[in-house]
Amino acid sequence: MSSPVLEAHGLVKRYGNVTAINGADFELWPGEVLAVVGDNGAGKSSLIKALAGAVVPDSGEIRMNGSAVNFRNTRDARAAGIETVYQDLAVIPALDIASNVFLGREVRRKGIMGSVFRRLDMPRMRAESSEHLADLKIGIKSVNQAVETLSGGQRQGVAVVRAAAFGRGVIIMDEPTAALGVKESGQVIDLIRSIRDRGIPVVLISHDMPHVFEVADYIHVHRLGKRAGVIDPRERSMSEVVALMTGALEPNEQERAGERGAPHAIQVDAAPVGDATVRDAAAPTTGTADAADPVRRTPPRA
Ligand SMILES: Nc1ncnc2c1ncn2[C@@H]1O[C@H](COP(=O)(O)OP(=O)(O)O)[C@@H](O)[C@H]1O
Ligand SMILES: [Mg+2]
Repeated sequence: MSSPVLEAHGLVKRYGNVTAINGADFELWPGEVLAVVGDNGAGKSSLIKALAGAVVPDSGEIRMNGSAVNFRNTRDARAAGIETVYQDLAVIPALDIASNVFLGREVRRKGIMGSVFRRLDMPRMRAESSEHLADLKIGIKSVNQAVETLSGGQRQGVAVVRAAAFGRGVIIMDEPTAALGVKESGQVIDLIRSIRDRGIPVVLISHDMPHVFEVADYIHVHRLGKRAGVIDPRERSMSEVVALMTGALEPNEQERAGERGAPHAIQVDAAPVGDATVRDAAAPTTGTADAADPVRRTPPRA
């Protein structure tokens, strides 16, 4: 039985007399896009900051691949493979794309030019940035282009590419489409899919229910500083999720426990037993498009 890539139990974080995280649990399983939704002030950003090392919780535990971790800062979390894209884009418009992708992690030239004169290895950074951008298909012609010449969606793309380039374990995005138009938001959603399809699980904080339902494998509903439940978007409507966010609706037992069901891709309820479809669907690599791609499947919790 595999363990979550990233999990937290009983997290607490207080700011003076405000309890931003109030005994929160969290689980991100391999291969999934997990949306995190909740009202303003529910504590979503605080939770994500704790997972990303930007906030040190007062109590509770965080585990990565089953082992306890203690992030003292974002550098520790990055070293463990967690990359975060914050809502306020951390790109520098006047710099070119390659410099932005390598911001804070510049590659120096070899030998004395790098070690003493601190010269950057721009050709290498450009080549690597181009590769990452091509991987994620965001349609940028040249990495020599200044970021200020890009559209909002493409800028977000650069921030996401940077995360994808260095995020070996988990990529977390806090409201990545909040400031974007329809087309640009669509590009970011496509990026999230392509990251997930490369086997890296994604945590997506978003207010945009249609996007959440479009891209999320599961939805973590956060309310009053903690996880209210984990929702399967194939089993609940958008209005039910909103009702769960506000407390108008209570989660069922499985949702409250954060349990994922069996992978949906292999459900073929309508097919009669003994039918070829059932046999095919039961095999792990056939069935629907989802089932054909093993990294997209979330293991059942049992
Ligand atoms: N640095 C901080 N200092 C004081 N209060 C904070 C701080 N960060 C968050 N809070 C408070 O914690 C609660 C949760 O905030 P936040 O995590 O930003 O929620 P969300 O992202 O769901 O809107 C809010 O009441 C907020 O005002
Ligand atoms: Mg927030």
